Amino acid sequence: MGLKMMGNAKTARNGNLLGAIGMTLAIFGTIFLHEGDVTGMIYGMIFGAIALGTVIGWMTAKKVQMTKMPELVSMFNGMGGLCAALISLIEFTHLMSSGEAAPIGTMIAIVAGLVIGSVSFSGSIIAFLKLNGTMNKPVRLPSYNMLNNIVMLAVLVFAGYVAMTGGSMMLAYGLFASALLYGILFTIPIGGADMPVVISLLNSFTGLAAAFGGFLYGNKIMLTGGILVGSAGTLLTLVMCKAMNRPLSNVIFGAFGAGSAAAAAGGSETKGTTKEVSVSDLAVLMNYSKKVVIVPGYGLAVAQAQHVIHELEMLLEERGVEVKYAIHPVAGRMPGHMNVLLAESNVDYGKLVEMDEINGEFETTDVVLIVGANDVVNPAAKDNPASPIYGMPILEAYKAKNIVINKRSMNAGYAGIDNELFYNPKASMFFGDAKKALTTLVAELKTM
Ligand code: TAP
Repeated sequence: MGLKMMGNAKTARNGNLLGAIGMTLAIFGTIFLHEGDVTGMIYGMIFGAIALGTVIGWMTAKKVQMTKMPELVSMFNGMGGLCAALISLIEFTHLMSSGEAAPIGTMIAIVAGLVIGSVSFSGSIIAFLKLNGTMNKPVRLPSYNMLNNIVMLAVLVFAGYVAMTGGSMMLAYGLFASALLYGILFTIPIGGADMPVVISLLNSFTGLAAAFGGFLYGNKIMLTGGILVGSAGTLLTLVMCKAMNRPLSNVIFGAFGAGSAAAAAGGSETKGTTKEVSVSDLAVLMNYSKKVVIVPGYGLAVAQAQHVIHELEMLLEERGVEVKYAIHPVAGRMPGHMNVLLAESNVDYGKLVEMDEINGEFETTDVVLIVGANDVVNPAAKDNPASPIYGMPILEAYKAKNIVINKRSMNAGYAGIDNELFYNPKASMFFGDAKKALTTLVAELKTM
């Protein structure tokens, strides 16, 4: 029910809360309906750990800025992966000390949880370090893909051997270490725009690892929860691949991060002349337009300009201008980033138009106002096969009658490449921090 409610902006918050209540019930159900002896000491340890985890999780989530959400998700996801791997290691220890041979199904569940959980843990930590800028360069070794695929095969063969033979504690630790290594190798060469896809993929791995834990314990809630996370993560991965026009096989086995490396190498080739628009001219232009489309991007989130943009929209609507928001699926830094941001300032959800639909409307748009967006409107994605973002579907803002771009400078966006749209004869730059610039625009409009 929680997941279903999260499908709609109005009910999403309550859906999240409901999901959390459900999981809390599941945790307490597992603890108190447990069959067999549980001593007070064990209860103490369990509740001590819950308290510690809750406090750390609560404080971290409370503090985090919206734009840093992907980092938080990758860190929390890594913890889930580690948890699944530790469960497997503990169960392996139990098996070894009991001296009995475990059925093959149990061995497969333990080994799969160990391998997938470890890959997810180390991969997520690398993703976290990349997102927070600690590791900001993609590492390139010769024949990286081949090396990675060989390591992956080796880990799989090793895992198969341990599952079939029952292994030993030494082998289990060896498998743990090699899966951790593979997680690092898997994520380390990735940079740029593939990072959200990787996080979502690792998220689905964690779900799968937890589902194996559910098998192991015959715990249906753990199994269901794991499968939900695994399938939701897989679906999100596929949706993002589609939005970036990259086949999943290319993301898994292809040249990870090649786009950003190319971008870094030959990023800013397009140069030309740009023109600037003054706040008064822009206010006149917008005031006398019939239709304005706003393209929000990462810069809108950084500047926290969602409230002032809503004010601008209402002001224009009062004057009979039709206003819509064009939403690109990977605008910002996390899936649904723009939807969440605009919902925060109570923008009517009906005004948010998806890319495929709004692209047919740009030709009849008088002004497209691009606020802190860059890659998602870069025409190079359509017409420059040499561009690292070539093939990514974009918002076709270049088709509008007037193009106004608000950003602070001529700096590149996430993909690190220049944007030929800025040099389009129909385009004008409206420089400044989004919140400050839009506040002056609103003030100017009010005087008219
Ligand atoms: P970007 O291409 O990253 O461009 C954002 C622009 O905002 C920058 O060029 C920057 O220019 C401007 N900006 C920054 N701070 C600003 C401020 N305070 N006021 C006004 N402008 C500001 O953003 P986008 O068009 O939203 O595209 C998103 C990119 O991120 C895509 O490449 C996408 O693949 C990638 N990505 C997406 C996700 C998801 S799932 N959404 C996750 C990770 C990465 P100035 O510095 O000149 O101001």
